[in-house]
Amino acid sequence: MKVIVAGNWKMNHGPRETRRFFERFRPVVDPERVRLLLFPPAISLADAKDALGEESPVGLGVQNFHWEPSGALTGEVSAKMASEAGARFALIGHSERRHLFGETDSETALKVVAAKRAGVMPLLCVGETLEQRREGRLEEVVTRQLDAVLCSEAGVHLRKKSTDTGTIILAYEPVWAIGTGQTANPQDAADAHGLLRDRVSATMGSTFAQAVPILYGGSVSPENTGGLLAASDVDGVLVGGASLDPESFARIASAAC
Ligand code: PGA
Repeated sequence: MKVIVAGNWKMNHGPRETRRFFERFRPVVDPERVRLLLFPPAISLADAKDALGEESPVGLGVQNFHWEPSGALTGEVSAKMASEAGARFALIGHSERRHLFGETDSETALKVVAAKRAGVMPLLCVGETLEQRREGRLEEVVTRQLDAVLCSEAGVHLRKKSTDTGTIILAYEPVWAIGTGQTANPQDAADAHGLLRDRVSATMGSTFAQAVPILYGGSVSPENTGGLLAASDVDGVLVGGASLDPESFARIASAAC
């Protein structure tokens, strides 16, 4: 499985800054071994696509979308529209969507179905808060978040539709590690990723589970990438803050080689 290095720009880099980013972004990676993904704001997708050009090995994704294909939903974009603008991937259930915007487990399942229908690869994020971790509820929380998708209509779609990069990507993102500088240590990441892989295996079968890339996210930096990727079951990283600067994101990409 290729290592995935994904950057989530959140609400940063409008169209002009996106073009500037790609003028300076010069990653040195072996495309056979590392897959680079970037999630700019939806409004910057078309500029990112244009700046990258047709042959670029960098995959683009949308950070959020509505599960309906179209309709009277002011301010929303659909997966199909994002795909038209260049998105091949879609973040679903990021902790900021869940905690700041009230995205529910059942909405994440609807979005996975919508992404598959639009031919966009879902990247489903799960993770526990600090309080939940302290209460020993990590497994319960991530199991609930995974089951909402895998044991619903979305699971049926995931079984029947697979592409060369698999059918879904998962990210374990402990909420306490996001934007805090407090990265999970490699052993904690390995333990959580093992739980995720086991749960996917129990619900979808072991062949399916072995093919699903599981990324770690939460204060990933050029310095800690190597250690995290060396941990078992860590198949890539999802980077927030450190993906905004082209040199820093390129250093993370190199550390993944
Ligand atoms: P961070 O964000 O790297 O800034 O902690 C990660 C994320 O939210 O995906």
